[in-house]
Amino acid sequence: MTDFFTLGIESSCDETAAAVLKNDHELLSNVVYSQVDLHAQYGGVVPEVASRNHVVKISPVIQSALDEAGVSLEQINLIGATNGPGLIGPLLVGLSAAQGLSLGLGIPFIAVNHLEGHLFAHHLTFPNVPPPFLALLASGGHTNLIHVKAWGDYEILGNTRDDAAGEAFDKAGKLMGLGYPAGPQIDKLAQQGNSQAIDFPRPMLKKGLDFSFSGLKTAIRYYLDDHPDAHLEDLAASFQAAVVDVLITKLFASANQKKVDQLVVVGGVAANSGLRQQLDLYAKKESKTVYYPDLKLCMDNAAMIAACARYRYEKMGEQSSLDMSASPALALPTA
Ligand code: KG4
Ligand code: ZN
Repeated sequence: MTDFFTLGIESSCDETAAAVLKNDHELLSNVVYSQVDLHAQYGGVVPEVASRNHVVKISPVIQSALDEAGVSLEQINLIGATNGPGLIGPLLVGLSAAQGLSLGLGIPFIAVNHLEGHLFAHHLTFPNVPPPFLALLASGGHTNLIHVKAWGDYEILGNTRDDAAGEAFDKAGKLMGLGYPAGPQIDKLAQQGNSQAIDFPRPMLKKGLDFSFSGLKTAIRYYLDDHPDAHLEDLAASFQAAVVDVLITKLFASANQKKVDQLVVVGGVAANSGLRQQLDLYAKKESKTVYYPDLKLCMDNAAMIAACARYRYEKMGEQSSLDMSASPALALPTA
C-alpha cells in the first residue's frame, strides 16, 4: 500500500497552523504559530490584526510543516482546511491558501468544520476508542456539549449563552490584573488557594445543558470592588471551582441523558488541572471513562483538521468544492 499524505491548515482565530498526516493517524508534523503576543496588549483577539498576521505567516507555516514532515508539496495527496466557525478574515486566509494549493497541485480538497476538527483530536490520540462518546469542548471561543454518535453524526446538547469557558477565565484574570490568556495563570494560582474561600455563583447549574459564564465575571468584579486587597490565590481557586463545577455537572447530566459512558474533553480549558482532578473523581464514582486527548491536539492546531479531512475523504467519500466560502457561524454536521 502506498502512503497517503494529508496537509491540514487551520486559521480560524489567532493561530496559524499546518500539519502533515501520514495515512489515518500518523502525525508527521504539527506546526502552530500563535499570535497571542500580538493580541495580549488588547486583552483579546483583534480580528483585523489576526487576518493580517495570518497572511504573513501562512506560507512559512505550511513550508515548516512540510519540512518537519520530510514530505514535499508534490507528495501531498489531500488538503484540508477549516472553513468555519470562526473569524471571517482569518478563515479566508487559510481556506484560500488550501484551495489555491489544491487547484495548483490537482489534488482533492476538504473543507473542515472547526468543531468537528476538535473532536478528531480524540481520533488522533485514541484511534482505537471510537464513538459514541460525550464531548466537552471548552476553549476561548467555544463551550459545547456534543453527543458524538458516530464520526460525522453529532448533536449539540449544550452551548454557552454568553462567554465561553476559556473566555471567562481570561476575563476574570483581566479583572484580577493577570495577563492574557489568564487561564493557565488562574490554574496555577488556584493550586495554592482555598476553593471554598469565596462562594461564587454556579450559573444555570440545574437549568438545562446550556452555560452562562458572564455573571461570574460580574461577581468577581463586585468582589474586587468590596475587597481591593483580595487574596488572589483564594479568588482564583474559588472562581475556578465554580466554572469546573458547572462544566462537570452538565457534562455528566448530558452523558446520563444519552446513556453514554465514554467522555472526551477537548479545547484549551482541557488543560485545567482542577477540571481534570474533579472529573477523574466523578468519573470513578459514576463508572465512566474520561479520555484526555494529547494537550497539543486539544488546543487549536491543524493536525486535528488533517485527521478530519482524511476521514471525510477516505471513509465518507467526500470532496469539497473549490469555490466554497468561509462560514463564520458554521454548524456541526449531522448524519
Ligand atoms: O483551544 P484554545 O487554545 O484556543 C481557542 O480558544 O480556540 O483555548 C485557549 C483558551 C484560553 O481562553 C485560555 O485561557 C484557556 O484556553 N486555557 C485554560 C488553561 N489553559 C488554557 N483555562 C483554564 N486552565 C488552563 N490550564
Ligand atoms: Zn478551537
